[in-house]
Amino acid sequence: MQGSYRHDDACRVCGKEDLADIVSFGALPLANGFIAPGARDEEEETYPLDVAVCRNCWLVTLRQVVDPARLFRHYVYVSSESDQIRDHMRRIVDLGTRQADLAPGDLVVELGSNVGTQLGLFQEAGFRVVGVDPAANLVEKANERGVESIADFFGPEPASRIAERHGRASLVLGRQCFAHIDDVHRVLDGVEEVLAPGGALVIEVPYLLDLLDENQFDTIYHEHLSYFSVTTLRHLFALHGLRLVDVERAPVHGGSIVVTAVREGTGREPAPSVTGLLDLERESGLTDEARYRRFAAQVERVTGRVRDLVQELAAQGARVAGYGAPSKGTQLLMVCGIGERELEFCSDTTSLKHGKLLPGSKVPVCSPEEARERRPDYYLLLAWNYAEEIIRKERAFLEQGGRFIVPIPEPRIVSAQSVKEPI
Ligand code: TYD
Ligand code: ZN
Repeated sequence: MQGSYRHDDACRVCGKEDLADIVSFGALPLANGFIAPGARDEEEETYPLDVAVCRNCWLVTLRQVVDPARLFRHYVYVSSESDQIRDHMRRIVDLGTRQADLAPGDLVVELGSNVGTQLGLFQEAGFRVVGVDPAANLVEKANERGVESIADFFGPEPASRIAERHGRASLVLGRQCFAHIDDVHRVLDGVEEVLAPGGALVIEVPYLLDLLDENQFDTIYHEHLSYFSVTTLRHLFALHGLRLVDVERAPVHGGSIVVTAVREGTGREPAPSVTGLLDLERESGLTDEARYRRFAAQVERVTGRVRDLVQELAAQGARVAGYGAPSKGTQLLMVCGIGERELEFCSDTTSLKHGKLLPGSKVPVCSPEEARERRPDYYLLLAWNYAEEIIRKERAFLEQGGRFIVPIPEPRIVSAQSVKEPI
């Protein structure tokens, strides 16, 4: 059953109709649409998933846009409480304070504030905070913990309401949400409304360069409409009177960039980090269609290798399960054609996901405690962005002869022995 969506011929950022198709994943269900066990036999809605690149501003984008209300009004994604993310969030408080030159009592506004974990840290550091997120269920949780949050899609209206009630924001923050936003111009119009004249906009997005270099094809799914480089963000910000003045790479979500923009006219010049990454992007072929053709070929090859490896292990009688049930895991299983026949279950720390089935592959999700009891021979590491932390945590599993299959950039098997050997 085909769900409804919009098909785009024009680039979301620059508006030009000059998109080159790169790779098509066919029609797939939404990666975050976990299925209740009672609904297992109902036909799932599917949507085509086609990736293209803009030859003008080099945005990598999906051709199809699923209604955001369908995707984000009730969202099961709760921002992670992993050690890595907690450390990162603390670094973001330092970075934001530095980039926006924050003084005690200044206002920090966050877009896509989820359950308010990041803003809570800004609050503890002595700043006033307001969050905006379309997921009413998550906003309720944020308000319960004392982080003032509004359930809405960010844009000029919520922005001017915030400005009226609280004044202008010295820092506007958007972590891991820009890729999800269809009308990025409306969001930046909102930023223009609420940002103080000398304030800073700090945006964190997964980095296209890392996606390509590490073959992270599983991070491409309907929720992620855009895949950004510094080249494209600079172009986008300039259309809103904002100048990209700083960028840092961060190891989260498989490799991200945290960019800072300020209003044109503040006189602040781009730091060397900006020109450095613009040069690296050009040298790496991000502004050349051929690079994307190579990526498409690599996706084809690696998905085949992952499928063959898991199917062979299962055929030999090995018990294989998934570690983590992230959206990208759902996506990886669907794209590789791995399902219930090969995977017994996926273990995940998010209680909202327990007892549900993964979209497409219909693999059941269980708690880490249950997984420990059922103890498979192999874990396909679907939450590979936490590989280090997970492998450290699962020492006992490895010591007892368990193994991890790390699917990307190329599938490899990790055992207790290989962990001891320096890579
Ligand atoms: P994440 O990579 O944040 O999300 P997505 O691909 O959906 O954007 O999700 C990681 C998932 O992995 C999340 O559902 C929690 C789970 N997880 C575990 O089950 N165990 C762990 O030790 C860690 C770090 C994560
Ligand atoms: Zn474009």
